Amino acid sequence: MNIELIDLQPAVADLVQLVWDGLQHQPRQLPAWLLYDAEGSRLFSQICEQPEYSLTRTEIALLEKHADDIANTAGSGVVVEFGIGNARKVDPLLAKIQPPAFVALDISRSALEQSLAGLATSHPSTAMVGICCDHSSLTDLPDHPRLNGQRRIGFFPGSSLGNFLHDDAVRVLRQFRQLLAGGPLLLGLDQPRDPIALEAAYDDAAGVSAAFARNLLCRLNKDLQGTIDPQQFQYQATWQDAEQRIEMALVSACEQTIDLAGETWTFQANERMITEHSVKYSPAAAADLAAQSGWCIKQRWHDCDDSFSLHWLEPAD
Ligand code: AVJ
Repeated sequence: MNIELIDLQPAVADLVQLVWDGLQHQPRQLPAWLLYDAEGSRLFSQICEQPEYSLTRTEIALLEKHADDIANTAGSGVVVEFGIGNARKVDPLLAKIQPPAFVALDISRSALEQSLAGLATSHPSTAMVGICCDHSSLTDLPDHPRLNGQRRIGFFPGSSLGNFLHDDAVRVLRQFRQLLAGGPLLLGLDQPRDPIALEAAYDDAAGVSAAFARNLLCRLNKDLQGTIDPQQFQYQATWQDAEQRIEMALVSACEQTIDLAGETWTFQANERMITEHSVKYSPAAAADLAAQSGWCIKQRWHDCDDSFSLHWLEPAD
């Protein structure tokens, strides 16, 4: 098959250090990416199927509906996706753009292999190139015959940018601008809307969102010899209007001590440990963020409720 993997051997994160830093921080907060071990990834795809969580369905529908228009705007070049997401998102773009190559950057080699194998079958004339790396530490894409001299069309769907707070979001977008070397970026962002609906999206009735957050505790127990009882933490998702974001946290049900990463930690009753933020961007806020990161939004596709946007960014001159 038409698949190549470039393994830049990304550094393995120091879990102990990350967890110590996160637990010493006030309020306690762990990096969102820790949520995605194998079980966490499984639970996240289940979240995407919940009736309250429309983000994924809305974005896929938008990409399918506007694929022609997006492809016309995109022109020709190789498509570069940051992080290997749901293959159903890039699928309509590959079908319309018919790029000579699709390049996916991800930290997980197995995720790249699996996803590219699927895409290769439905897009036989596009070369699939996986780059196993931590894209935040790259200054350029590696030299590769499929990439050299090609215009680059970036793709960052899923409102993944929402997990970053402001300064990190700016850093990420600047980084993409550099890696795309003058090429455009298609950026999917979830928008602010009715707080009740948003809180429900992050705390579904079936309890999948809660299980996703609590799974972090199971992961910590497993990876860092922890003694946490996940049932002694309550899950909470709160809309924070001033920051235009959902904050997800595990709240200690009582005063308790736990062992983790070679240390004993005390939680007060009701003490929160933030697991994740999900920032929502209005079109104006997205334009601001783009401007601060060296980009300019040229076009936007959105659903009829105006709850989700696909933004077309070009480098600002
Ligand atoms: C993967 C960051 C887009 O913020 O909507 C969903 C993560 N967490 N439900 C989001 C998530 C709990 C999701 N992103």
